[in-house]
Amino acid sequence: MTITSTQHIAFFGATGGCTNACLVHTLNAGFHATALARTPSKLVDMLHAQGISQDVMDAQLTIFKGDISDIHAIKDTLTNHVAGTTGAVTLASQIISGIGGTPQMQMSLRRPVTIDNPEICATATKNIIQALQEIYKTQPSTALHKPSIAVISTTGVSDVKEDVPFAFRILYHVVLADPHKDKKEMESLVTENSGTTFRGAVIVRPSLLTGDQSVKGSGRQGWEKLRVGREEEPAVGYTVHRADVGQWIFEEVVKTGGEGRFGQRITLTN
Ligand SMILES: NC(=O)c1ccc[n+]([C@@H]2O[C@H](COP(=O)([O-])OP(=O)(O)OC[C@H]3O[C@@H](n4cnc5c(N)ncnc54)[C@H](OP(=O)(O)O)[C@@H]3O)[C@@H](O)[C@H]2O)c1
Repeated sequence: MTITSTQHIAFFGATGGCTNACLVHTLNAGFHATALARTPSKLVDMLHAQGISQDVMDAQLTIFKGDISDIHAIKDTLTNHVAGTTGAVTLASQIISGIGGTPQMQMSLRRPVTIDNPEICATATKNIIQALQEIYKTQPSTALHKPSIAVISTTGVSDVKEDVPFAFRILYHVVLADPHKDKKEMESLVTENSGTTFRGAVIVRPSLLTGDQSVKGSGRQGWEKLRVGREEEPAVGYTVHRADVGQWIFEEVVKTGGEGRFGQRITLTN
């Protein structure tokens, strides 16, 4: 699908490393974008640090302040805010979500790591679905051009094939059980709503994330050198750099429209 000049890509979790890197490439390529951020100044500072000028931000990006629990702010992020356009509401052509919680240690031998909000990914997905369904109901014409969604999940949640290297299995299947339950719920919601609420869906499962969002930072392997697997034939590896994951999502999903990846659960690793 070709993105028209009045369409935009909606970002959730863009102050996270992978999604921020994806947004940087999206803006550099000239696309319009919206982003929901709890702290807009944090997002602006991250984009400035990556060389995105204020002029580019003014022309191509609209940031909405809000939490993912705020359906109204989600609706704003999903609807059209391209400068110079008026008239009927149009929706984002794509949604990119890298929402995730902050890991926290707890006094438990069985579950030493939990996250600040153990249902954040499922909640975010439910709320995006609810927001879209309410928009379709009040503005039926929007349902003719539904957005696709790409979410960042994780390895270690497959029911089909083991995609975690042997040395990481206790970490992934015991220590990280709480965040992974949330990711599985997110994946189910996205899959169930693909073709109905969403035009299509792509699930990206990176291995252990390293580095930050810096697209020019060190430690990157390069997005085109990543090993890419599918649920049935996962690419099994230890780590992957956030900036590489973000660029991979830009190159393979944002830039292309993502149709060739719809329905896939993609493992990404070095
Ligand atoms: N750590 C790993 O090794 C690993 C491995 C595989 C997958 N993952 C998953 O991959 C995804 C991307 O990870 P990352 O490290 O690039 O990013 P991250 O640092 O986990 O960023 C999370 C993002 O979610 C946002 N967020 C959290 N709660 C929110 C709320 N209530 N409302 C609105 N926004 C909220 C954060 O915003 P604020 O800036 O406001 O906090 C931030 O933008 C995450 O889901 C992560 O769990 C992680």
